[in-house]
Amino acid sequence: MLYNIMYKMMFDAKFESQEDPLFIEETRFNSERSRLAQSFEYNYGDFIPLLRPLLRGYLNKCRDLQTRRLAFFNNYYVKKRREIMAAEGDKHKISCAIDHIIDAQMKGEISEENVLYIVENINVAAIETTLWSMEWAIAELVNHPHVQHKIRQEISRVLKGKAVKESNLHQLPYLQATVKETLRLHTPIPLLVPHMNLEEAKLGGFTIPRESKVVVNAWWLANNPKWWKNPEEFRPERFLEEEHGTDAAVAGGKVDFRFLPFGVGRRSCPGIILALPILRLVIAKLVTNFELKPPSGTHQIDVTEKGGQFSLHIANHSTVAFCPFAH
Ligand code: HEM
Repeated sequence: MLYNIMYKMMFDAKFESQEDPLFIEETRFNSERSRLAQSFEYNYGDFIPLLRPLLRGYLNKCRDLQTRRLAFFNNYYVKKRREIMAAEGDKHKISCAIDHIIDAQMKGEISEENVLYIVENINVAAIETTLWSMEWAIAELVNHPHVQHKIRQEISRVLKGKAVKESNLHQLPYLQATVKETLRLHTPIPLLVPHMNLEEAKLGGFTIPRESKVVVNAWWLANNPKWWKNPEEFRPERFLEEEHGTDAAVAGGKVDFRFLPFGVGRRSCPGIILALPILRLVIAKLVTNFELKPPSGTHQIDVTEKGGQFSLHIANHSTVAFCPFAH
């Protein structure tokens, strides 16, 4: 579903089903990229340059995957849009994101290589982050049936039978709090993306030499018991009670450095305006139509986290039972 939402926006394309050969190839490429990026192999070389020559095997694997993956995006998606745009000429109406990007290339604003890297970046930054967040949200909803119940009650009380839409999401604070609580407890990019300070800086009595790799532990900021009441609990109510007013900084709320699932400042995530409505809408639709239950024979979903150097995944995937409500 998420792939189809994003591919429709990006390429005006969709996958027929999970058996669609393009979908199988695409997800295989993305999983392999994630596996390599999550691996701790290259870290040693980053910090101990002496070791770099020994890590060539890993880097060669990355390069090989990158070549095949970019060729896949180019051959099956970017070239197709170029052909459509060329055939329609002046009559072409821009109908998806890649048309804008190709247009920028044709105006000389970016290079052909940039186009492919933007496509590759969106596959990771947009699709996988939102997918991981969705998986965490579903797992916590299964383990907290009363949260599912409260979301249903809120929707029925506020919308009185009308469908949940992007335009009425702002009327559903408990649903919003559930998404926030998921991103707090299971911050999908726990260390954000590494930044570099061009100039020497002083912070909290420390000197940070120029051109340091600066890593922000956003997960700890959002889970430090000094600042959050029982942070290990999944409790959306906290965002309506003691944390009322705490919002992801880039969502327009006050800047609260304890809660930065999308980063903060000029390089913060531009996709927040897409990710939040998608997560809220999908959760609302699932919870209003189904009761989400653990796999048969179990009472809880195992929410053990799987470490990695970039993203925070669930360690064991479960098959959730979606039991339809008779409407
Ligand atoms: C729940 C979903 C998402 C999460 C948790 C997330 C989180 C993040 C984080 C932590 C960063 C780095 C911020 C920093 O450097 O401090 C980032 C950057 C970025 N995200 Fe997202 N993101 C999500 C969804 C999306 C979506 C849907 C898109 C696109 C449609 C997107 C596009 C980007 C891009 C392009 C950047 C790089 C921005 C830059 O370097 O200037 N993200 N995201």
